[in-house]
Amino acid sequence: MDITSVAAVEQAVASFDPQIVLNAAAYNQVDVAENEPAAAFQVNALAVRNLALACRQCGAQLVHFSTDYVFDGMAGRPYTEADATHPLGAYAVSKLGGELYAQAYLANPLIVRTSGVFGPGALQTARGNFIELMLRLAGDTKTIRVTEDHVASPTYAPLLAARTADLVEKGVTGVVHCGGGTPISWYEYAKLIFQEAGLTPALKPTTEREYRTPARRPKFSALSNSRLESLGLEPMPPLPVAVRSYLQMRKRLLAA
Ligand SMILES: NC(=O)c1ccc[n+]([C@@H]2O[C@H](COP(=O)([O-])OP(=O)(O)OC[C@H]3O[C@@H](n4cnc5c(N)ncnc54)[C@H](OP(=O)(O)O)[C@@H]3O)[C@@H](O)[C@H]2O)c1
Repeated sequence: MDITSVAAVEQAVASFDPQIVLNAAAYNQVDVAENEPAAAFQVNALAVRNLALACRQCGAQLVHFSTDYVFDGMAGRPYTEADATHPLGAYAVSKLGGELYAQAYLANPLIVRTSGVFGPGALQTARGNFIELMLRLAGDTKTIRVTEDHVASPTYAPLLAARTADLVEKGVTGVVHCGGGTPISWYEYAKLIFQEAGLTPALKPTTEREYRTPARRPKFSALSNSRLESLGLEPMPPLPVAVRSYLQMRKRLLAA
């Protein structure tokens, strides 16, 4: 369904009568959103309001995915759930709006913030993910330039899904951070991908100053998983382990 449609959401939630609604839908064209902030707000904020109201109506729990981009990246260390938010652009503002709507209309939503997600679903979408982009560029002869002054915590989607399921089973509510186990710059991440894939393309670091984008992005948006771990959930593995798992799964899926 189109979650921006109040009627479609009401009808779907009423007919399924779910115990849990997981919302991973998003308008996530971060740069395009600078020119069309209303479109981003419609999907990332107002549609979450639709879901929250429908969940309230039938007593379902809302599990909503949010982003490290709610932070400005100035802390210089992994962000905890207690840190103040300060979004830097239209996408980020709309995602924070979604969090606020979920919290405004529901007593106990679960909001899972994550960062730099990569998963096998990207093999079926035009958008892909960072690993697919790097593998594609490696097939070209041009030097690949990747920013070294932005740090995130890339997160393997199947593990994000598993931890989310664990959080739901434990009845955890509120905001929980679930990022990958390694804060890393995009340049170092690209190096790691090529190393794990056994590729040696020409790769050079670049900076935000050299590679301007319409939307400002947080410079250091890695997430601290301290709350997740204090709740007794299994820690997220280091990034090399997650990238290896992804590449193995990718090989199996492409062979099939
Ligand atoms: N990817 C990341 O690095 C990252 C990082 C931090 C947080 N997140 C969050 O994680 C969640 C999932 O992101 P993702 O990267 O997995 O996104 P994705 O692969 O692009 O999936 C988003 C989905 O939302 C759907 N969608 C868009 N507008 C919709 C609407 N009006 N009604 C119903 N569905 C709609 C899209 O459907 P169509 O394909 O049909 O348009 C798409 O299937 C989002 O909340 C995002 O903010 C992602």
